[in-house]
Amino acid sequence: MRTRVIGTGRCLPETVVTNDDLSKIMDTSDEWISSRTGIKERRLVKTENTASMSVYAAQEAIKDAGIQPEDIDLIIVGTLTGDYVTPSTACEVQAAIGAVHAMAFDVNAACTGFIVALNTAHMYIQAGICRTALIIGAETLSKIMDWDDRGTCVLFGDGAGAAIVQSADTGILGLVQGADGTKGMSLACQDRDNHNPLVQSDRQLHYTSMNGQEVYKFAVTKVPECIHQVLDQANLTTEDVKYFILHQANIRIIQSVAKRLKVSEDKFPISLDHYGNISAASVPILLDEVNKKGLLQRGDKIVISGFGGGLTWGADVIEW
Ligand code: UT7
Repeated sequence: MRTRVIGTGRCLPETVVTNDDLSKIMDTSDEWISSRTGIKERRLVKTENTASMSVYAAQEAIKDAGIQPEDIDLIIVGTLTGDYVTPSTACEVQAAIGAVHAMAFDVNAACTGFIVALNTAHMYIQAGICRTALIIGAETLSKIMDWDDRGTCVLFGDGAGAAIVQSADTGILGLVQGADGTKGMSLACQDRDNHNPLVQSDRQLHYTSMNGQEVYKFAVTKVPECIHQVLDQANLTTEDVKYFILHQANIRIIQSVAKRLKVSEDKFPISLDHYGNISAASVPILLDEVNKKGLLQRGDKIVISGFGGGLTWGADVIEW
């Protein structure tokens, strides 16, 4: 029993913020951002939030899959920026789309969130506990950015991507996932302070901080390694793979991974130029773009890979 992707969807906020827009409100430039990251613009929420974008992306994926919300047994959202601590974003989606038969919960594996959500659903499907799942990666990263820290806030954006997966005789052919908590503080965002009667502390808001060079080094070594591992598991080589759909953090990371794998950059679709880094949402948004452009045929093999906060990483090889 395998797990096949049968539909995809995405939602991006309406408001486009270019590098030039940012250079009007902080000491940065299009030249710095474009040349170091490949990012030219990003979408930021004005009226949207994590749940509303998730719902839209989910409805697109349901339409693409040709199923009904009642057919869904499980909803998992990969996110670190839900609108509420509880209910989970997945429960909000369940209510909004009328997936009355679905169990629903969120997972937090930062930029690996969609991969971990997909693999968790795969385990449920393999165990015979469910047949059809809705997997979402969704983030409103703009709310956890320090807009006075030009080193981080220019890199990230908001959005959501979704996929419907179902038990089938083909689909996920191999998966790898891992974590190294010892390096967790290199990309961190502290939660709210505790104000119970025993704790004296100032009320502060906490924002994202990052050691960019440490995360960069981690990504360019770990991602090729886990892609080799997942291809070995499936008895495939890089030549068998039509597209490598990577987390969209930085064009230089993607170029370095392509070089280390000895694969043409043409096999690495890109969306970070328009959307920036959207953590758990990057992979499903790009997967939907590739799917909706009609670039995938039944039988094609693709690799998806996420990496980032935790630090965490993961890769799947999927037969379409
Ligand atoms: O999902 C995973 C998420 N994280 C990543 O993928 C991050 C991976 N790391 C990176 O992509 C890179 O490390 C960055 C793009 C984040 C930064 O590039 P860098 O070459 O490592 O730059 P840096 O942090 O060493 O900064 C170089 C200079 C500094 O100035 P000085 O000290 O040399 O005078 C910064 O203050 O660039 C300055 N700087 C900026 N200048 C203009 C930092 N941010 C900006 C900015 N605009 N936005």
